[in-house]
Amino acid sequence: METVATPAGLRARVAEWRREGQRVGLVPTMGALHEGHLRLVDLVRTRADRVVATVFVNPLQFGPREDLSRYPRDLERDRALLEARAADLLFAPTVDAMYPEPVEVRLEPGTMASRWEGSVRPGHFSGVLTVVAKLFHLVGPDVACFGQKDFQQAALIRRMVRDLDWPLEVIVGPTVREADGLALSSRNRYLTPDDRSRAPLLSAALRAAQRAWRDGATEAAAVERAAAAVFASEPAVTVDYIAVADPNTLEPVATVSAETVVMVAARVGTTRLIDNAILDQPIP
Ligand code: PAJ
Repeated sequence: METVATPAGLRARVAEWRREGQRVGLVPTMGALHEGHLRLVDLVRTRADRVVATVFVNPLQFGPREDLSRYPRDLERDRALLEARAADLLFAPTVDAMYPEPVEVRLEPGTMASRWEGSVRPGHFSGVLTVVAKLFHLVGPDVACFGQKDFQQAALIRRMVRDLDWPLEVIVGPTVREADGLALSSRNRYLTPDDRSRAPLLSAALRAAQRAWRDGATEAAAVERAAAAVFASEPAVTVDYIAVADPNTLEPVATVSAETVVMVAARVGTTRLIDNAILDQPIP
């Protein structure tokens, strides 16, 4: 696996593959890789001849009080993991290489980005879409892969591709979880042992919502109550939101259906975790 650190190096390598008629797949990440990221590499490999993975902790998507400086970084480990999964190219630029000048022009998503995660993290999705757009331009992938774990992010990227007529396919890989249901996340390492034991509550709340629906609930309020009851059992976990929403627009629904998504965000100790599930896709 080759590593390149500059946009020009990346373009040159991908241009060669394209001349050979190869399909190119892209998996953007911020590094600190875990099995959730690596399954996206496996998934995109089934749809492309060449796989480009990117590792870049994008300052544009971090708020002033967020964890940019303490975001975990270990490029050598990430490299080894990607190599073992047979990625073809790693793009790991510095901030200066990605943003040689202060960023003047950004993508500005609408209301889909202002609710849920966006209401807690103003500007976050503008930063995400701007860097993803840059990566799409640099690589020109035929297919790009994102995780369901970040449901709102994946929905916004799909929408960006439609709104801007990007000629690529976006695929969304299932959330990879620990045996006790906790969704893998680079932020899980911040959990103290006590917090770690409470963290599966998010997936338990989602399972309760799914159970309520299976048992016949049709009102979103009833599905939400089922999830809220699980959180109420653990005062050390603070809920930010429980969203029962349309999976495409992310707007709250009044009546649920099989495709309805339930998204939750909660603080466990000082660590903020998110998770989600579609009602008819039971969490194992
Ligand atoms: P990061 O948090 O590193 O995640 C990279 C990709 O891995 C995202 O598509 C995310 O949804 C996916 N992912 C994370 N945890 C997962 C899990 N447990 N199961 C399945 N997929 C998982 O998301 C970002 O980086 C950034 O916002 C990025 C898109 C790279 C733009 O900077």
